[in-house]
Amino acid sequence: EIKALILAGGGGTRLWPLSREEVPKQFLKLAGDYSLLQTTIKRLLPLCGQEGIKIVAGERWDSQIAYQASDVGLKGNIHVLEPEGRNTAPAIALGLAHLMEKGATRETPVLVCPSDHIIQNEKAFHDALKLGLLALEEGKLVTFGIVPDAPETGFGYIKKGEDRGGWNDVSQFVEKPDLKKAKEYVQSGQYLWNGGIFLFRAGDMIDSFKEHLPEIAKLMEGGEMAMVEGFKDLPSVSIDYGIMEKAPSVAVVPLDACWSDLGSWDAIYQQGEKDGNRNVLKGDVLADRSEGCLVQGDRRLIALSGVSDLLVVDTADALYIAPRGTSQSVKDVVSTLKERS
Ligand code: GDD
Ligand code: MG
Repeated sequence: EIKALILAGGGGTRLWPLSREEVPKQFLKLAGDYSLLQTTIKRLLPLCGQEGIKIVAGERWDSQIAYQASDVGLKGNIHVLEPEGRNTAPAIALGLAHLMEKGATRETPVLVCPSDHIIQNEKAFHDALKLGLLALEEGKLVTFGIVPDAPETGFGYIKKGEDRGGWNDVSQFVEKPDLKKAKEYVQSGQYLWNGGIFLFRAGDMIDSFKEHLPEIAKLMEGGEMAMVEGFKDLPSVSIDYGIMEKAPSVAVVPLDACWSDLGSWDAIYQQGEKDGNRNVLKGDVLADRSEGCLVQGDRRLIALSGVSDLLVVDTADALYIAPRGTSQSVKDVVSTLKERS
């Protein structure tokens, strides 16, 4: 049976003013009635069961996680407490150490899922997983690849190698290339985006840590307690830079499942349900002769009149307005605010 590690320790400011350091994206209800963490849990429950899902995140999120998880039927001891944020490689190592102590073996398939994106087509996701399980038999570390539609620089790029019947060997993994490279990759048609979901046999990943991140591997040998104690001295490194770029035996399974990382207000507009005037409206909104707008608010009535293609995000203490298509610039707003404070 598959074990799942959900990574829920990331911050994220690209959805300011809704996401803050105190309220990261994974806990927000961005696409419907459930938070991104909750939809991730719901996707995994039929696959891994109550016992098979662990959520790795810092202690400060404990009550938030317990509350959101039990709300979708996941109860019990599910939270693997991370002493502090050290990025995804140490988080995955800690999760693995925990699973091994709870009875996983080197052969156990482990699925690592981020909690910051949505997958609309669940069936396509399950089909991709089945193919991924086949690739595991060859000792591969499996990634899931999304056909890119823009030269995004916030994703990893995977160059497809030999076709293995439903999945491919990976001939190159490039984490977050610059814009020039990203454009070349998209144009070439040979690259996929890394969806941030990984599947591997526990033992294969442990061996990869030994090979590429020996400092972390060494600490893992002492088990979960030792990891917790030594955690703060570990290098802060993502699994993508630390292992996936370097590992020789990586596979990619195409994931055509309406994946979106909801990484920006523009992405949320794209993904959202449009009304007859192409508006995506959440909250108490009146849109008069207005089109192509995203409005997100729940505090008070918001009225648009005669405007088009705007992003409007209203919270108790901050209001963000920008033309649609420019939401990446929110990070400039955030850094200016940081300088000011
Ligand atoms: N527990 C824990 N601890 N979780 C973490 C930490 C940490 O220190 N840092 C990040 N995470 C969680 C985030 O909450 C998110 O769910 C997931 O791990 C991925 O981390 P991100 O920080 O969001 O990574 P990214 O978006 O920059 O890049 C990754 O995802 C892209 C797709 O969304 C990479 O895998 C890229 O290659 C990929 O394209
Ligand atoms: Mg992300």
